[in-house]
Amino acid sequence: MKRFEGRIAIVTGAGGGIGSAISRRFAEEGAFVVVTDANGAAASEVAESIERSGGSATAIAADISKGDDCAILIEQVHSRTGRIDILVNNAGINRRGNLLALTDDDWYTTFAVNLHSMFHLCRAVIPHMMKAGGGAIVNTASQWGLHPAPNHIAYNTSKAAVAAFTQNLARDYAPQKIRVNAVCPGEIHTPMLEAGVKRSGRTIADLDKLVPFGRIGKPEEVAALVAFLASDEAAFMCGSLVEITGAQAVA
Ligand SMILES: NC(=O)c1ccc[n+]([C@@H]2O[C@H](COP(=O)([O-])OP(=O)(O)OC[C@H]3O[C@@H](n4cnc5c(N)ncnc54)[C@H](O)[C@@H]3O)[C@@H](O)[C@H]2O)c1
Repeated sequence: MKRFEGRIAIVTGAGGGIGSAISRRFAEEGAFVVVTDANGAAASEVAESIERSGGSATAIAADISKGDDCAILIEQVHSRTGRIDILVNNAGINRRGNLLALTDDDWYTTFAVNLHSMFHLCRAVIPHMMKAGGGAIVNTASQWGLHPAPNHIAYNTSKAAVAAFTQNLARDYAPQKIRVNAVCPGEIHTPMLEAGVKRSGRTIADLDKLVPFGRIGKPEEVAALVAFLASDEAAFMCGSLVEITGAQAVA
């Protein structure tokens, strides 16, 4: 029996590195996956590749930094499927800089994408999950939200807020059997990481050396953890912040 047979899962930022791996993993395990991203072409590509491999998916373009788009997304999915079992709040952006280097736009857009989207999406989905008798929400925080790396104050602070948001939501809705957990990845090889590596003048091999495990992580490894947290196997996990870092301490 596949773990997600008959389940409906929404994954945000699903056109990107970690989000596409999560979407593929859910689909391989039987879910119908709503692959959503601001980059509609990337979302369509992921959904089509899932369908070509025999899975079930649909793509929806949505800018989750906008509250209205979040509410419309949830209602659109619910009216089509009649249920939403899993929401993965994975979309995120990383604007590098210390306090004096950041613009107002860097700060506010980071919070709109990384944190406020979760407020809007969870507020729209939780009533449906309550009516259905439960659900699972997995948020993508970051190890840097727990232990900040230098020069990323907007990103790190938004991810610290994601961790707090996760624990608050878990405490408030655990009685309704809505499990809310977060993953806190270290360095994972994705387009976001590639962009950061280019900016810093370092290479992937440089990053590999900083990880006691000997290499940075793969999107599929985060996807496996997200799938576990969203599955019934994690039935008693609620309010957990799970680090996945290859034992790397933040430099
Ligand atoms: N890669 C890492 O090392 C790492 C480490 C820790 C945490 N994370 C987190 O993992 C998540 C996924 O990151 P990734 O590395 O796969 O990055 P990525 O850049 O490959 O993917 C992010 C996706 O989010 C989408 N997105 C951005 N703004 C959006 C918006 N307003 N509305 C909808 N979609 C939007 C992008 O189009 C992109 O497809 C992020 O939350 C990131 O902060 C990544």
